[in-house]
Amino acid sequence: MSLTFTLDPAVTPALRDGILDLWTDVSNAGGSVGFVPPVTAETIRPELVRHMVAMAEGRTRLLVGHDEDGRVAATAFLALNTHRLMTHWLWLYTVMVHPRHQGKGYGRDLLAAAQDAACGIDGIEAIRLTCRGGLGLERFYGSCGYKEVGRVPGAIRVAPGDDRDDVIMLLPLR
Ligand SMILES: CC(C)(COP(=O)(O)OP(=O)(O)OC[C@H]1O[C@@H](n2cnc3c(N)ncnc32)[C@H](O)[C@@H]1OP(=O)(O)O)[C@@H](O)C(=O)NCCC(=O)NCCS
Repeated sequence: MSLTFTLDPAVTPALRDGILDLWTDVSNAGGSVGFVPPVTAETIRPELVRHMVAMAEGRTRLLVGHDEDGRVAATAFLALNTHRLMTHWLWLYTVMVHPRHQGKGYGRDLLAAAQDAACGIDGIEAIRLTCRGGLGLERFYGSCGYKEVGRVPGAIRVAPGDDRDDVIMLLPLR
């Protein structure tokens, strides 16, 4: 089994709802994608709308993985920089695989598809992302070729008294 990845799919209500369900389920399973559980789709919706506005303006590209039942099973957003001195690399955001599919190699497939997508964008030479420390995510990204290039101690306050490092990972593309 594998996921089918699509770059810049048509944004239909079904796709939007599928991403919202994925994001909600991943967050409620403890995934580090911007929220802490418990969270509802309505809390996440404004964040997705922000991404969709950026997509409509051509600043962000969406990569979606569907499973064999046609459900949205994985996503990543590739965000171009608007700063004129930083247009040669992009940000990767909201890397997630549905909890029912985690641990099957789909996360690695998702990052490979994101790398292919970034390589296909004119002038892009690197992918940068941040992840929450303390969960082993550096190891996941490391296994996909990313290197830790920085770490801001305690920058993410998951809960009072529970601060995590903000870890910066980089993948040069050439
Ligand atoms: C992180 C995530 C995308 C990985 O996807 P996945 O499909 O579960 O990962 P894979 O099965 O492709 O695993 C690839 C490798 O990374 C490792 N790995 C995966 N998740 C890991 C984690 N959270 N911590 C440490 N290692 C991890 C796997 O063990 C595997 O290594 P191995 O081949 O040496 O066994 C997925 O677990 C997820 O969506 N998590 C919740 C959301 C999240 O936190 N996203 C990160 C945002 S920065």
